[in-house]
Amino acid sequence: MDRIEITPAKRLSGEVIPPPDKSISHRAVMFSAIARGKGIVRNFLRAQDTESTMHAFRTLGIEIVDQGHTLIIHGKGLRGLTEPFDVVDCGNSGTTIRLLSGVLSANPFFSVLTGDRSLRSRPMARIIKPLGLMGAQITGRENSRYAPLAIRGGKLTPVTYEMPFASAQVKSSILLAGLYTEGMTEIREPSKSRDHTERMLPAFGADMKTEGLTITVAGGRELYAQEIDVPGDFSSAAFFIVAALLLPDSEVVMKNVGINPTRTGLIDVLKTMGADIEISNRRFVSGEPVADILSRSSSGLRPAVVTAEMVPSLIDEFPILCVAAAKAGGTTIIRGAAELRVKESDRIRAMAVELSRMGVQVEEFPDGLNITGAEDLNGAEVDSHGDHRIAMSMAVAGLAAHGVSGINNASAVAISFPDFFSTLQRLSE
Ligand code: S3P
Repeated sequence: MDRIEITPAKRLSGEVIPPPDKSISHRAVMFSAIARGKGIVRNFLRAQDTESTMHAFRTLGIEIVDQGHTLIIHGKGLRGLTEPFDVVDCGNSGTTIRLLSGVLSANPFFSVLTGDRSLRSRPMARIIKPLGLMGAQITGRENSRYAPLAIRGGKLTPVTYEMPFASAQVKSSILLAGLYTEGMTEIREPSKSRDHTERMLPAFGADMKTEGLTITVAGGRELYAQEIDVPGDFSSAAFFIVAALLLPDSEVVMKNVGINPTRTGLIDVLKTMGADIEISNRRFVSGEPVADILSRSSSGLRPAVVTAEMVPSLIDEFPILCVAAAKAGGTTIIRGAAELRVKESDRIRAMAVELSRMGVQVEEFPDGLNITGAEDLNGAEVDSHGDHRIAMSMAVAGLAAHGVSGINNASAVAISFPDFFSTLQRLSE
């Protein structure tokens, strides 16, 4: 399905149970693999990115019993992984390669990590540098800036590290390496990135504390298997939240969605734009806050201003926020978001190019965009840039446009949300 045609919808209504959270699914497999005993992961995300993590740990000698959305993982403890017989392919997944690098740096064998063309173009110095300070031996392509990465694992020492930017992948990679040291590793973030690692690892027995923006972990303690229920992915629900806002007479309920405050900045921004969004049935599942989210048509959206300190809590939602901005009455200003240039695609460039094709006025800056909303979007031929979130965002734009649109390279949605197009079709009238 490399080109999908999107016909404008009159309205959107119904109920969606979004796919399981990608970040939490990755971590559940990883932490179970290096814990002792039989771990159970329920509501595991079946998508290309999380399959990459499953595949990587099988290559490292971990038995994973696949029961569909439930996985049984036979963890072998911190020192139980074995040298892979082949290169470990992390596919499109930044979380897989960066977190795994932290673990493999401390394991006494040789491994090579690689991925697809997109992943091999994404910055890796951000993990090689702090892990190097701990004594890790990692080299990569282009003077250790990119994957493939070759890792000769060995003994690591604890580190105190001030992160130059907020990143949950970098933070988690260092914390995982810290588990293998004798002593306290301390990390300070400039602003808070998603904290799934800090919520989940202590449940496995890790001695970890968070105080404000500082996280400490004590090394040398074994982890023990747990049962984890993965909540729905807010980042996948985000496409339906915005689609319902933009279409007339629409109302979509999303059930069982993770609403960890380090992830839900999009809701705060949309509310300042005048969006009608309600959160109900709040509860906790496996240490993560979960709720149902109701999103209704909201005509007359106002433009937003997004600044650097808001960026980490909506880092993956920028493409769909750009679509909301494209229909708002005025100019939305996004700055301090240079990280978007090194995601699965250059998301600043991709959204500027693709929204322009629909007739939206977009100005590109090194660290953001100005988007001037248009009353009417024109259906157009657009491209996903091989990026799942661009494909889904442009499909929502197409739904709210006049005339038919074609989304090229649409199969990228399989990275995080294989059923995206059929779900969209089910809700559309
Ligand atoms: C993720 C962290 C974020 C996010 C990515 C998933 C994670 O990346 O964009 O989709 O699972 O830790 P950065 O840590 O690079 O900001």
